[in-house]
Amino acid sequence: MGHGIKCIGMLTSGGDAPGMNAAIRSVTRAAIFNNIRVKAIYRGYKGLITGEIKEFQTQNVSNIIQQGGTILKSARCAEFRTPEGRQLAYENLVKEEIDALVVIGGDGTFTGARLFSQEYDVPIVGLPGTIDNDLFGTDSTIGYDTALNTIIDAVDKIRDTASSHERLFFIEVMGRDAGFLALNSALASGAEAAIIPERETKVDQLEELIKNGFRKSKNSSIVIVSESEVTGGANGLAERMRREHPEYDVRVSILGHIQRGGSPTAYDRIIASRMGVAAIDALMDGLRNIMIGIVNNEIVHVPLAKAIKDDKPVNEQLLGVVQILSI
Ligand code: F6P
Repeated sequence: MGHGIKCIGMLTSGGDAPGMNAAIRSVTRAAIFNNIRVKAIYRGYKGLITGEIKEFQTQNVSNIIQQGGTILKSARCAEFRTPEGRQLAYENLVKEEIDALVVIGGDGTFTGARLFSQEYDVPIVGLPGTIDNDLFGTDSTIGYDTALNTIIDAVDKIRDTASSHERLFFIEVMGRDAGFLALNSALASGAEAAIIPERETKVDQLEELIKNGFRKSKNSSIVIVSESEVTGGANGLAERMRREHPEYDVRVSILGHIQRGGSPTAYDRIIASRMGVAAIDALMDGLRNIMIGIVNNEIVHVPLAKAIKDDKPVNEQLLGVVQILSI
Protein backbone atom coordinates (compact mmCIF):
# COMPACT_ATOMS: atom_id res chain seq x y z
CA MET A 1 0.00 0.00 0.00
CA GLY A 2 1.83 3.06 -1.31
CA HIS A 3 -0.51 5.53 0.33
CA GLY A 4 0.41 4.44 3.86
CA ILE A 5 -3.13 4.79 5.20
CA LYS A 6 -4.08 1.78 7.29
CA CYS A 7 -6.90 3.21 9.34
CA ILE A 8 -9.31 6.11 8.92
CA GLY A 9 -11.53 7.87 11.41
CA MET A 10 -14.97 9.05 10.33
CA LEU A 11 -17.35 11.52 11.96
CA THR A 12 -20.45 13.62 11.33
CA SER A 13 -20.60 17.10 12.78
CA GLY A 14 -22.81 20.22 12.82
CA GLY A 15 -26.46 20.12 11.79
CA ASP A 16 -27.45 16.65 10.63
CA ALA A 17 -28.68 16.11 7.07
CA PRO A 18 -30.60 13.28 5.37
CA GLY A 19 -28.10 11.15 3.47
CA MET A 20 -25.38 11.33 6.10
CA ASN A 21 -26.01 7.65 6.85
CA ALA A 22 -25.64 6.77 3.18
CA ALA A 23 -22.29 8.59 3.27
CA ILE A 24 -21.21 6.73 6.44
CA ARG A 25 -22.09 3.43 4.77
CA SER A 26 -20.19 4.33 1.65
CA VAL A 27 -17.04 5.54 3.44
CA THR A 28 -17.01 2.43 5.63
CA ARG A 29 -17.47 -0.06 2.84
CA ALA A 30 -15.13 1.67 0.37
CA ALA A 31 -12.39 1.75 3.03
CA ILE A 32 -12.82 -1.92 3.99
CA PHE A 33 -12.96 -2.86 0.30
CA ASN A 34 -9.51 -1.30 0.02
CA ASN A 35 -8.18 -3.03 3.16
CA ILE A 36 -8.31 0.13 5.26
CA ARG A 37 -9.69 -0.13 8.79
CA VAL A 38 -12.50 2.22 9.82
CA LYS A 39 -13.06 3.80 13.20
CA ALA A 40 -16.35 5.54 13.83
CA ILE A 41 -16.08 8.64 15.99
CA TYR A 42 -19.30 9.50 17.83
CA ARG A 43 -20.77 12.98 18.38
CA GLY A 44 -18.48 14.78 15.97
CA TYR A 45 -15.34 16.44 17.25
CA LYS A 46 -16.64 15.99 20.79
CA GLY A 47 -16.16 12.22 20.48
CA LEU A 48 -12.69 12.74 19.12
CA ILE A 49 -11.82 14.69 22.26
CA THR A 50 -13.48 12.28 24.69
CA GLY A 51 -12.41 9.15 22.83
CA GLU A 52 -15.88 7.85 21.89
CA ILE A 53 -14.48 5.72 19.09
CA LYS A 54 -15.45 2.28 17.85
CA GLU A 55 -14.10 0.15 15.01
CA PHE A 56 -16.69 -0.52 12.28
CA GLN A 57 -17.09 -3.62 10.13
CA THR A 58 -19.26 -3.75 7.01
CA GLN A 59 -22.27 -4.97 8.99
CA ASN A 60 -22.21 -1.90 11.26
CA VAL A 61 -23.56 0.07 8.32
CA SER A 62 -26.15 -2.43 7.14
CA ASN A 63 -29.68 -1.18 6.67
CA ILE A 64 -28.92 2.52 7.17
CA ILE A 65 -28.89 3.89 3.62
CA GLN A 66 -32.58 4.77 3.89
CA GLN A 67 -32.43 6.32 7.37
CA GLY A 68 -32.45 10.06 8.08
CA GLY A 69 -30.21 11.59 10.75
CA THR A 70 -26.81 10.13 11.53
CA ILE A 71 -26.08 6.91 13.37
CA LEU A 72 -22.82 8.52 14.55
CA LYS A 73 -24.77 11.37 16.24
CA SER A 74 -23.75 14.94 15.70
CA ALA A 75 -22.75 17.91 17.79
CA ARG A 76 -21.42 21.42 17.53
CA CYS A 77 -18.30 21.31 19.71
CA ALA A 78 -16.99 24.49 21.35
CA GLU A 79 -13.99 22.70 22.86
CA PHE A 80 -12.61 21.80 19.44
CA ARG A 81 -12.33 25.52 18.76
CA THR A 82 -9.63 25.73 21.44
CA PRO A 83 -5.98 24.60 20.92
CA GLU A 84 -6.29 22.47 24.08
CA GLY A 85 -9.34 20.67 22.69
CA ARG A 86 -7.61 19.98 19.38
CA GLN A 87 -4.54 18.65 21.20
CA LEU A 88 -6.70 16.15 23.10
CA ALA A 89 -8.31 15.17 19.80
CA TYR A 90 -4.90 14.59 18.24
CA GLU A 91 -3.77 12.48 21.17
CA ASN A 92 -6.80 10.23 20.67
CA LEU A 93 -6.06 9.87 16.97
CA VAL A 94 -2.54 8.72 17.78
CA LYS A 95 -3.82 6.37 20.48
CA GLU A 96 -6.34 4.83 18.07
CA GLU A 97 -3.75 4.62 15.28
CA ILE A 98 -5.97 6.67 12.95
CA ASP A 99 -3.95 7.93 9.96
CA ALA A 100 -6.58 10.10 8.24
CA LEU A 101 -10.03 11.56 8.81
CA VAL A 102 -13.21 11.75 6.76
CA VAL A 103 -15.47 14.46 8.15
CA ILE A 104 -19.07 14.82 7.02
CA GLY A 105 -20.68 18.18 7.66
CA GLY A 106 -20.91 21.81 6.64
CA ASP A 107 -19.12 25.07 7.06
CA GLY A 108 -18.30 24.75 10.77
CA THR A 109 -17.14 21.16 10.37
CA PHE A 110 -14.71 22.11 7.61
CA THR A 111 -13.47 25.17 9.49
CA GLY A 112 -12.54 22.90 12.40
CA ALA A 113 -10.95 20.38 10.03
CA ARG A 114 -8.79 23.07 8.43
CA LEU A 115 -7.53 24.38 11.74
CA PHE A 116 -6.77 20.86 12.92
CA SER A 117 -4.86 19.98 9.77
CA GLN A 118 -2.84 23.19 10.01
CA GLU A 119 -1.73 22.28 13.52
CA TYR A 120 -1.28 18.54 13.11
CA ASP A 121 -0.17 16.54 10.13
CA VAL A 122 -3.41 14.65 9.55
CA PRO A 123 -4.86 14.16 6.04
CA ILE A 124 -8.51 15.16 6.05
CA VAL A 125 -11.19 14.76 3.41
CA GLY A 126 -14.57 16.44 3.84
CA LEU A 127 -17.94 15.36 2.50
CA PRO A 128 -20.48 18.19 2.15
CA GLY A 129 -23.37 17.25 4.44
CA THR A 130 -25.82 20.08 5.08
CA ILE A 131 -29.35 20.90 4.01
CA ASP A 132 -28.32 24.52 3.36
CA ASN A 133 -26.39 23.78 0.12
CA ASP A 134 -24.06 26.64 1.01
CA LEU A 135 -20.67 25.06 0.28
CA PHE A 136 -18.73 26.26 -2.72
CA GLY A 137 -17.50 23.68 -5.22
CA THR A 138 -20.39 21.25 -5.39
CA ASP A 139 -23.69 21.54 -7.24
CA SER A 140 -25.50 20.01 -4.31
CA THR A 141 -24.70 19.11 -0.73
CA ILE A 142 -25.88 15.85 0.82
CA GLY A 143 -29.32 16.50 2.37
CA TYR A 144 -30.31 19.52 0.31
CA ASP A 145 -32.52 17.64 -2.13
CA THR A 146 -34.37 15.82 0.65
CA ALA A 147 -34.94 19.05 2.57
CA LEU A 148 -36.22 20.73 -0.56
CA ASN A 149 -38.73 17.94 -1.10
CA THR A 150 -39.81 18.07 2.55
CA ILE A 151 -40.45 21.79 2.20
CA ILE A 152 -42.47 21.32 -0.97
CA ASP A 153 -44.57 18.66 0.66
CA ALA A 154 -45.29 21.01 3.57
CA VAL A 155 -46.05 23.99 1.32
CA ASP A 156 -48.48 21.92 -0.76
CA LYS A 157 -50.37 21.12 2.43
CA ILE A 158 -50.33 24.71 3.64
CA ARG A 159 -51.65 25.77 0.24
CA ASP A 160 -54.79 23.69 0.83
CA THR A 161 -55.67 25.56 4.00
CA ALA A 162 -54.45 28.91 2.63
CA SER A 163 -56.84 28.53 -0.24
CA SER A 164 -59.79 27.38 1.91
CA HIS A 165 -59.42 30.39 4.20
CA GLU A 166 -58.27 32.86 1.53
CA ARG A 167 -55.15 33.74 3.46
CA LEU A 168 -51.72 35.14 2.86
CA PHE A 169 -49.03 32.83 4.25
CA PHE A 170 -45.42 33.64 5.01
CA ILE A 171 -43.56 30.33 5.25
CA GLU A 172 -40.09 30.41 6.79
CA VAL A 173 -37.52 27.88 5.70
CA MET A 174 -33.99 27.10 6.91
CA GLY A 175 -30.76 27.88 5.11
CA ARG A 176 -28.80 29.86 7.67
CA ASP A 177 -27.61 32.75 5.52
CA ALA A 178 -28.16 31.11 2.16
CA GLY A 179 -31.29 31.31 0.02
CA PHE A 180 -31.05 28.02 -1.93
CA LEU A 181 -33.85 26.30 -0.03
CA ALA A 182 -36.15 29.33 -0.18
CA LEU A 183 -35.58 30.13 -3.82
CA ASN A 184 -35.92 26.63 -5.21
CA SER A 185 -38.80 25.64 -2.96
CA ALA A 186 -40.65 28.79 -4.08
CA LEU A 187 -40.09 27.77 -7.67
CA ALA A 188 -41.13 24.18 -7.13
CA SER A 189 -44.20 24.95 -5.03
CA GLY A 190 -45.55 27.75 -7.21
CA ALA A 191 -45.19 30.38 -4.49
CA GLU A 192 -45.83 34.06 -5.21
CA ALA A 193 -42.34 35.10 -4.13
CA ALA A 194 -39.10 34.06 -2.44
CA ILE A 195 -37.43 36.35 0.05
CA ILE A 196 -33.74 35.49 0.30
CA PRO A 197 -30.82 37.11 2.12
CA GLU A 198 -28.78 37.46 -1.07
CA ARG A 199 -31.22 39.95 -2.56
CA GLU A 200 -32.58 43.00 -0.77
CA THR A 201 -36.31 42.71 -0.18
CA LYS A 202 -38.28 45.51 -1.73
CA VAL A 203 -41.28 45.27 0.53
CA ASP A 204 -43.25 47.72 -1.60
CA GLN A 205 -42.80 45.49 -4.63
CA LEU A 206 -43.83 42.47 -2.62
CA GLU A 207 -46.97 44.29 -1.46
CA GLU A 208 -47.78 45.23 -5.02
CA LEU A 209 -47.31 41.67 -6.19
CA ILE A 210 -49.58 40.27 -3.51
CA LYS A 211 -52.17 42.99 -4.08
CA ASN A 212 -52.24 42.25 -7.80
CA GLY A 213 -52.60 38.57 -7.13
CA PHE A 214 -55.60 39.08 -4.87
CA ARG A 215 -57.10 41.62 -7.26
CA LYS A 216 -57.03 39.05 -10.02
CA SER A 217 -58.22 35.52 -9.58
CA LYS A 218 -56.09 34.48 -6.61
CA ASN A 219 -57.75 33.93 -3.30
CA SER A 220 -54.59 33.03 -1.43
CA SER A 221 -50.89 33.78 -1.55
CA ILE A 222 -47.75 32.04 -0.40
CA VAL A 223 -44.43 33.74 0.18
CA ILE A 224 -41.37 31.65 1.10
CA VAL A 225 -38.93 33.45 3.40
CA SER A 226 -35.36 32.46 4.27
CA GLU A 227 -34.58 32.45 7.96
CA SER A 228 -32.06 35.24 8.37
CA GLU A 229 -31.57 38.54 10.11
CA VAL A 230 -31.31 40.11 6.68
CA THR A 231 -34.79 39.03 5.58
CA GLY A 232 -36.32 39.62 9.01
CA GLY A 233 -37.83 36.14 8.78
CA ALA A 234 -41.46 35.30 8.20
CA ASN A 235 -42.62 37.00 11.40
CA GLY A 236 -40.92 40.27 10.50
CA LEU A 237 -42.56 40.45 7.09
CA ALA A 238 -45.94 39.31 8.38
CA GLU A 239 -45.97 42.01 11.05
CA ARG A 240 -45.31 44.67 8.47
CA MET A 241 -47.97 43.31 6.15
CA ARG A 242 -50.56 43.19 8.94
CA ARG A 243 -49.77 46.78 9.87
CA GLU A 244 -49.96 48.13 6.36
CA HIS A 245 -52.63 45.85 4.95
CA PRO A 246 -55.12 44.96 7.66
CA GLU A 247 -57.42 43.70 4.89
CA TYR A 248 -55.30 40.56 4.47
CA ASP A 249 -55.73 37.55 6.68
CA VAL A 250 -52.04 36.87 7.32
CA ARG A 251 -50.55 33.71 8.82
CA VAL A 252 -47.00 32.56 9.50
CA SER A 253 -45.66 29.05 9.35
CA ILE A 254 -42.09 28.32 10.41
CA LEU A 255 -41.19 24.87 9.14
CA GLY A 256 -38.24 24.39 11.50
CA HIS A 257 -36.43 21.12 12.12
CA ILE A 258 -38.89 19.00 10.16
CA GLN A 259 -36.68 20.11 7.25
CA ARG A 260 -33.69 18.22 8.63
CA GLY A 261 -35.39 14.87 9.07
CA GLY A 262 -36.73 12.06 6.97
CA SER A 263 -35.56 9.33 4.66
CA PRO A 264 -33.13 10.69 2.05
CA THR A 265 -34.26 11.01 -1.55
CA ALA A 266 -32.71 8.80 -4.23
CA TYR A 267 -30.61 11.77 -5.34
CA ASP A 268 -29.12 12.31 -1.87
CA ARG A 269 -28.40 8.60 -1.45
CA ILE A 270 -26.67 8.51 -4.82
CA ILE A 271 -24.43 11.54 -4.28
CA ALA A 272 -23.61 10.41 -0.72
CA SER A 273 -22.64 6.96 -2.00
CA ARG A 274 -20.50 8.37 -4.80
CA MET A 275 -18.83 10.93 -2.55
CA GLY A 276 -17.97 8.34 0.11
CA VAL A 277 -16.13 6.16 -2.38
CA ALA A 278 -14.42 9.25 -3.83
CA ALA A 279 -13.21 10.25 -0.35
CA ILE A 280 -11.38 6.96 0.11
CA ASP A 281 -9.98 7.14 -3.44
CA ALA A 282 -8.72 10.65 -2.74
CA LEU A 283 -6.98 9.61 0.48
CA MET A 284 -5.34 6.66 -1.29
CA ASP A 285 -4.16 9.06 -4.01
CA GLY A 286 -2.42 11.15 -1.38
CA LEU A 287 -4.88 14.07 -1.48
CA ARG A 288 -5.56 15.93 1.73
CA ASN A 289 -7.53 18.83 3.09
CA ILE A 290 -10.05 18.80 0.32
CA MET A 291 -13.79 18.49 0.05
CA ILE A 292 -15.35 16.06 -2.39
CA GLY A 293 -17.91 17.76 -4.62
CA ILE A 294 -19.97 16.84 -7.66
CA VAL A 295 -20.12 19.36 -10.48
CA ASN A 296 -21.95 18.55 -13.70
CA ASN A 297 -22.24 14.96 -12.50
CA GLU A 298 -18.43 14.58 -12.13
CA ILE A 299 -16.53 14.12 -8.89
CA VAL A 300 -14.32 17.13 -8.09
CA HIS A 301 -11.78 17.93 -5.36
CA VAL A 302 -12.09 21.35 -3.75
CA PRO A 303 -9.60 22.73 -1.22
CA LEU A 304 -11.38 22.96 2.14
CA ALA A 305 -10.46 26.64 2.37
CA LYS A 306 -12.22 27.37 -0.92
CA ALA A 307 -15.31 25.34 -0.03
CA ILE A 308 -15.76 27.39 3.14
CA LYS A 309 -14.62 30.84 2.11
CA ASP A 310 -15.80 31.26 -1.45
CA ASP A 311 -19.42 32.28 -1.66
CA LYS A 312 -21.56 29.91 -3.64
CA PRO A 313 -23.91 32.16 -5.58
CA VAL A 314 -27.61 31.48 -5.78
CA ASN A 315 -28.99 31.80 -9.29
CA GLU A 316 -30.77 35.11 -8.86
CA GLN A 317 -32.35 34.80 -12.29
CA LEU A 318 -34.64 32.24 -10.71
CA LEU A 319 -36.25 35.06 -8.72
CA GLY A 320 -37.38 36.44 -12.05
CA VAL A 321 -38.78 33.05 -13.03
CA VAL A 322 -40.75 32.87 -9.77
CA GLN A 323 -42.11 36.34 -10.46
CA ILE A 324 -43.10 35.64 -14.07
CA LEU A 325 -44.90 32.49 -13.04
CA SER A 326 -46.76 34.14 -10.19
CA ILE A 327 -48.91 36.43 -12.33
O1 F6P B 1 -26.94 24.30 8.97
C1 F6P B 1 -28.10 23.56 9.00
C2 F6P B 1 -29.16 24.26 9.79
O2 F6P B 1 -30.31 23.44 9.78
C3 F6P B 1 -29.50 25.67 9.35
O3 F6P B 1 -30.34 25.73 8.23
C4 F6P B 1 -30.12 26.26 10.59
O4 F6P B 1 -29.95 27.65 10.65
C5 F6P B 1 -29.33 25.59 11.70
O5 F6P B 1 -28.77 24.41 11.15
C6 F6P B 1 -30.13 25.23 12.91
O6 F6P B 1 -29.27 24.67 13.85
P1 F6P B 1 -29.72 24.00 15.22
O7 F6P B 1 -30.37 22.70 14.92
O8 F6P B 1 -28.45 23.83 15.97
O9 F6P B 1 -30.68 24.95 15.85
